[in-house]
Amino acid sequence: MTSTQTTDTTHVGVAAALAGLPSVRTAFAQFSLQGRVALVTGAQRGIGLELSLALAEAGAVVYCMDLPTTPDADWVKVQEYCAGLPDHPDVGTKGRLEYMHGDVTNQKSMWALAEEIVKTEGRLDVAVANAGIAATAPCLEYEADDFQKVLDVNLNGVLYTAQAAGQQMAKLGIKGSIVLIASMNGSIANPNGQWTAYNTSKSAVLQMARSLACELGEKGIRVNTISPGYTDTAMTRSVSRELFATWASQNPLGRIGRTDELRGAAMWLASDASTFCTGSDIIVDGGHRAW
Ligand SMILES: NC(=O)c1ccc[n+]([C@@H]2O[C@H](COP(=O)([O-])OP(=O)(O)OC[C@H]3O[C@@H](n4cnc5c(N)ncnc54)[C@H](O)[C@@H]3O)[C@@H](O)[C@H]2O)c1
Repeated sequence: MTSTQTTDTTHVGVAAALAGLPSVRTAFAQFSLQGRVALVTGAQRGIGLELSLALAEAGAVVYCMDLPTTPDADWVKVQEYCAGLPDHPDVGTKGRLEYMHGDVTNQKSMWALAEEIVKTEGRLDVAVANAGIAATAPCLEYEADDFQKVLDVNLNGVLYTAQAAGQQMAKLGIKGSIVLIASMNGSIANPNGQWTAYNTSKSAVLQMARSLACELGEKGIRVNTISPGYTDTAMTRSVSRELFATWASQNPLGRIGRTDELRGAAMWLASDASTFCTGSDIIVDGGHRAW
């Protein structure tokens, strides 16, 4: 299977075996992103960088977008690590990581950024709207500006990213995949927390994805969310050690998640392994919501 084809499900797996087609191992190849181009926002570090590397390992050219004008030493190290990886028999030629400076709250610059990627690479197949900020304040005194700032990044920025990618996919007739990073906090609230703005923004992202999925389905563009639980990144490390430990005790697995534990969901949603999945939320929270 070549990467730029959309999977013809009539020629995969059991259907291929019963049709007497030549033996081809499709299970891993369905996850291949060879020849695909992806944009990941907030990807200098944390979950964004982890998912970018995973998509590049699966074959994609990944544009990591973030606020700094130039990436830091850690990002460069990951880029070099990616460049040094061997090709993979099921995935094909590996992809690569590129860095782009941008701000998801600037709608027109987001649109221009996606256009620039298409000018350079000729296509845009995947977007991961990951950039987000966390902020806490008591709900009865939440300052309007502070509340707005969270919504600007976590909600408006996600829309502008989806628009930027979706416009290019629609223009080029690409049946792309747009993944919005929400949170388990989009559908639950934390006890003893002051997360009204953050939780509200993430809840809106879940509904945004369903709405975009319904509108873009006729173009074959899929939109889904991933809702991580507490994951070990700079964002969660900014809280006290006591609170971090409390969070770890709040799910059946008794620990905080690692960024690499979100790779599978992202690779599945980005690739032809999930061609019938749109408007869905994939929860990766160590079972937090099961309790
Ligand atoms: N870490 C968790 O426990 C957790 C849980 C659920 C959801 N999430 C979500 O996952 C996403 C990534 O979180 P993380 O934990 O990796 O956080 P992080 O703080 O480590 O990374 C966020 C990145 O987004 C970038 N960013 C912030 N504002 C931006 C803007 N205006 N434009 C472009 N980039 C911007 C930051 O510079 C940073 O590199 C966020 O949307 C977050 O809400 C995180």
